[in-house]
Amino acid sequence: MYSTKKINDDLYWVGVNDRKITLFENVYPVTRGMSYNSYLLLDKKTVLFDTVDSVASLQFLENVSHTLGERELDYLIVNHMEPDHCANIGAIVARYPSVKIVGNAKTFVMMGQFFDFDIESRKVVVKEGDVLDTGRHSLTFVMAPMVHWPEAMVTYDTVDKVLFSADAFGSFGAMSGNIFADECDFESEWIDDARRYYTNIVGKYGMQVTNLLKKASALEISKICPLHGPIWRENIGYILDKYIKWSSYIPEEKGVVIVYGSVHGHTENAAEVLANLLGDRGVKNIRLFNASMTHYSQIIAESFKRSHIVFACATYNMALFPPMQVILHELAEHNLQNRAFAFIENGTWTPASAKLMTEILDKLKNNKIIGQNVTVKSALNSDSYAQLARLADEIAQDVKQV
Ligand code: FEO
Repeated sequence: MYSTKKINDDLYWVGVNDRKITLFENVYPVTRGMSYNSYLLLDKKTVLFDTVDSVASLQFLENVSHTLGERELDYLIVNHMEPDHCANIGAIVARYPSVKIVGNAKTFVMMGQFFDFDIESRKVVVKEGDVLDTGRHSLTFVMAPMVHWPEAMVTYDTVDKVLFSADAFGSFGAMSGNIFADECDFESEWIDDARRYYTNIVGKYGMQVTNLLKKASALEISKICPLHGPIWRENIGYILDKYIKWSSYIPEEKGVVIVYGSVHGHTENAAEVLANLLGDRGVKNIRLFNASMTHYSQIIAESFKRSHIVFACATYNMALFPPMQVILHELAEHNLQNRAFAFIENGTWTPASAKLMTEILDKLKNNKIIGQNVTVKSALNSDSYAQLARLADEIAQDVKQV
């Protein structure tokens, strides 16, 4: 049975929720599933905005077919060619062979790599600022390279002021009957998944997101329709403010993330002790994570949220404890900036992890290191405890100044 939602008089959500998925992109845990949003405009011409993942084809095609009724599909606008959105382009073409496909030059290069149907006879190539009139509506195209792939673009309906924002403003998580952000308690139900989605999927491309936000700031926007997660029609400034902070690598709040990689528990003990010492000094908003039990995507999201990050790691085969190595490499890959770092190392014969951690994070810009690295030899003793206490003093002092 079709499962659709009305957005405006002539605009429908025809997407699909996926609650079987466990790993988005086969890497990010999504315990609440995913939504693949697609939208159908019933103007004088009919327009479909993107498709959905291959796992959801049947439901999607039924949604489109029901919403179109007896009408033909005139246009498919492809804002993004990643397979979670493009997988059903071939199925749409097979079902609606007269459809015209709208994309930019890069869109069609990728389309030719993914599909072997006749693209040439159907393609409508657009560039920044081009306009597609569909009857009552007028759609214009804004290029959004690297948000999240090079071909990404967004589409703006200049009549109803709707921004079809592709991956931007999306979130992990399936929707449950309420497709508008204002129908949910976004701050408690969605923001953590929206932040983890943003920081991991496009966090690396802050400059490109900033460029898109600058273009969007010139538009009057009544609704944001992303390709994942809830639609924005109220309090749009809230999510825009989050995007401005995330894309410019500004912490949302004062706070300390402590992440530790511990083999037998002694590095964990040092991390716990530091957390308590920070609490004793009045620091609030401390979060402690076991690298072995926490997916790196959560550490990335927490690190984008808070101002200070402490890394505590055992030396392991003269390298870093593997779960911490993954986290540090991923943080370095996601371009984290404007943060204060501190390091605790442990080793029974040759502690080397502070140097190794620093080397990985050195490639990031505009971060600072607080205090002296703390060295634990096997287990905390009075000397290393005193080092931890000094580090806690310095972190607490720095947190106050943020
Ligand atoms: Fe949701 Fe970049 O695809």
